[in-house]
Amino acid sequence: MSVPSSDLTWSPSSEEAMLLVGQELASHLPAGQVILLDGPMGAGKTTLAKGIVEGLGAGVADDVSSPTFPIVHEYRARTLVYHLDLYRLDTVQQVLGIGIDDFLEDVQAGEATMLVEWGERFPELWPRSYWRVAIRVVGDGRQVSLERNVAGLAYQGDAADER
Ligand SMILES: Nc1ncnc2c1ncn2[C@@H]1O[C@H](COP(=O)(O)OP(=O)(O)O)[C@@H](O)[C@H]1O
Ligand SMILES: [Mg+2]
Repeated sequence: MSVPSSDLTWSPSSEEAMLLVGQELASHLPAGQVILLDGPMGAGKTTLAKGIVEGLGAGVADDVSSPTFPIVHEYRARTLVYHLDLYRLDTVQQVLGIGIDDFLEDVQAGEATMLVEWGERFPELWPRSYWRVAIRVVGDGRQVSLERNVAGLAYQGDAADER
């Protein structure tokens, strides 16, 4: 059984440093994972996503802006990358409505990496095991930690019935 670990942490104190953390993080992320970018508004989730996408080899970081609606950015990097920002969605049904099942299918086939902002608001959507990058605001800087193999709900509960 997989064990959660958070052995990788960084303390970037600027946007540039955050981008570099994202690039380094990318080398630790296998394809076929859902990665929740977890932190409050302004923590640096979109910045980190930009660095990760760059690190995965997409080379189009400027296109990774914080999406408003409808929330999905797709990149061809070393693998397919889906970057989702679910901030403006309120219900699981709305998230299903943007076609997340199709994205998750690509992820579970090992063909895509999924980066999700505000994903912790919809715990019933994520697979049995996912990764989390937690960002904490510390003074003017940030603390970033990678937690691998976080135990998910794996489609239990109401959301599963509604699919
Ligand atoms: N490590 C960091 N230290 C200081 N400022 C940062 C850091 N990472 C990002 N920022 C800044 O924080 C602001 C919010 O970043 P953003 O990525 O849009 O956050 P989020 O997507 O979490 O709301 C931006 O102005 C960005 O430049
Ligand atoms: Mg954002």
